[in-house]
Amino acid sequence: MNKIVKRLLSTALIGALTLGMCACSTKSNSLTVEDGKLIMATNAFFPPYEYHDDNDAITGIDVEIAQAVADKLGLELVIEDVEFDSIIAGVQSGKYDIGCAGMTVTEDRLKSVNFSTPYATGIQSVIVADDSAITDIDTLLSGDYIVGVQSGTTGDIYMSASAEDGGVGEDRVDRYSKGNDAVVALMSGKVDAVVIDNQPAQAFVAANDGLKILDTPYAQEDYAMAVNKDNEELLDKINAALAELQSDGTIDSIINKYIPAQS
Ligand code: ARG
Repeated sequence: MNKIVKRLLSTALIGALTLGMCACSTKSNSLTVEDGKLIMATNAFFPPYEYHDDNDAITGIDVEIAQAVADKLGLELVIEDVEFDSIIAGVQSGKYDIGCAGMTVTEDRLKSVNFSTPYATGIQSVIVADDSAITDIDTLLSGDYIVGVQSGTTGDIYMSASAEDGGVGEDRVDRYSKGNDAVVALMSGKVDAVVIDNQPAQAFVAANDGLKILDTPYAQEDYAMAVNKDNEELLDKINAALAELQSDGTIDSIINKYIPAQS
């Protein structure tokens, strides 16, 4: 092979490699973290939004809504079951496409991620032992009690605030990695109350004897999917899918399947 042909060939090779590299780096233009997949980060210890069923499959309201969204987008839903307080950071760093975990839209979280249109609402509630001296929020906030929460949740954020800001302060908050672990601590008397979203609260109270929910709802919240701030296209597509699922009744029927309407 003469030198010129060789040189031409190697130039072509470099060209092909460069093209190949460009093809890789267009990754940032693709809709999701992995082509064809919608990677959902959740923390599946939060019934009825996400939990492990008897066959250890992850199921629940969020899973079904995310599946319906993925179907509309022609993507395969992949679920990653992780610590709740690592979800936002993982969405932000581009590890997951969505955080879908009964996640409340908050001003603070909006600094790190975008949120879809809300698809459900929650209320913070207080679980205590049946014979507890805590009968209302004011007693809970009096400064005499230890409150168990799931780490990084809004229950944690509200309770960790100082007394002036409506909490009991960091020192009186015990953080657990799962909501149910906080409930176990309540049953063994390690904490005096648990602050958590009302639907999981009801599931935990139903599953354990000797617990009740104070009938003072604590804070109303909107649940939405967290999406990376740089991925407006995915956010728009998710919102369009949610709007369709809202108007054709799919979201309501998924929610009603898990939360029988209170009449
Ligand atoms: N709604 C609360 C929050 O956003 C609690 C969510 C906890 N979700 C879960 N899958 N463990 O902070």
